[in-house]
Amino acid sequence: MTYQHRAIIDTIPGYKQGKPAPEVQGQRSFKISSNENPFEPLPSVVEAIRQQALDHINRYPDMRGWDLVERLASLNGVGPENVVLGCGSCEVITQLVSLVAGPGDEIVYPWRSFEAYPIIVAGAGAASVQVPNRPDGSHDIDGIIGALNERTRLVILNNPNNPTSTSLGDEEARRVMEAVPSDVLVLFDEAYFQFNTDAGTNVAMNLFREYPNIVVAHTFSKAYGLAGLRVGYAVAPADVIDGMRKVSLPFAVSDVAQSAAQASLDVSGELEVRVKSIIGERDRVVAALHSQGWDFAEPYANFFWLALGERTDEAAAIFTQAGLSVRVFSGEGIRITIGEPEANDIVIDVCQQLKTQGF
Ligand SMILES: Cc1ncc(COP(=O)(O)O)c(C=O)c1O
Repeated sequence: MTYQHRAIIDTIPGYKQGKPAPEVQGQRSFKISSNENPFEPLPSVVEAIRQQALDHINRYPDMRGWDLVERLASLNGVGPENVVLGCGSCEVITQLVSLVAGPGDEIVYPWRSFEAYPIIVAGAGAASVQVPNRPDGSHDIDGIIGALNERTRLVILNNPNNPTSTSLGDEEARRVMEAVPSDVLVLFDEAYFQFNTDAGTNVAMNLFREYPNIVVAHTFSKAYGLAGLRVGYAVAPADVIDGMRKVSLPFAVSDVAQSAAQASLDVSGELEVRVKSIIGERDRVVAALHSQGWDFAEPYANFFWLALGERTDEAAAIFTQAGLSVRVFSGEGIRITIGEPEANDIVIDVCQQLKTQGF
């Protein structure tokens, strides 16, 4: 059927979810295609969901999510007026883009980066200005600064960057902040910051205290392992939060999600131990691949990137045969999530196999 709609929507591919674990006979298979946390939820978090939330699902949740907002505000050293919740950080990013940009406006961000950015930007009717990454997958800061003009309404920085897992250094982040006019916002999307072991990186909350135009997006989906419940948040100047709330999806963050996020904050020590073990697994995989002769940029999130170029699809088929679903960007490369140790062992084996096939 032909129907009247905005032409800009035809320019974007829909968001593609990471593939489920493939079925391979006689073998355990793993989904390592969505940067999820391989650990099951902690018992106290499951209990909080059961006890605090399920009793009143006939009622709407607290739309502002005050209890959680206040907790996140004190955790980040800001006021509750500086925090807004969203249905995952995807929603807070969407709120921000809808707030600042529309037809005729531009949003500058590195590319390749999070696949949702072009979709969210086009959804607002604004134009994406994608700045190609450097050969090592890191943000091209000169390119980003060079792309700024009077139509720029937002700059997005992704630290660590999905899918290349590169870290953004303090000095480079500051160069962007110095170049962007103080009335144009800069979003630091830090979905994976808990995994970032780069000594030279600056968590955006430090910069937030120095610059008036920073928005920081965090999520409970990755380090906190609540991807299925959909809860994220932004820290921003109070008037930006007011604007974001106006365009937010009403009641987007369920009571269940709010309760689970609170319960997760209660056990953040235990969750940090899990994060450390994922980082340990990442280091183990990276060391193994280096000894096989792979050369790739140091990863700083819970995933790493193999730039396989033209042979990407060929390599992807080998991962699938081995029982692993990975994230495939045809013609560019493969993003591999650090999963259960058993899954990581298979990754190491597959990479060895690829090396023997001349990759
Ligand atoms: C860079 C980045 N930002 C934001 C998100 C959104 O995560 P969520 O909506 O689950 O908080 C993701 C998810 O994969 C991501 O990779």
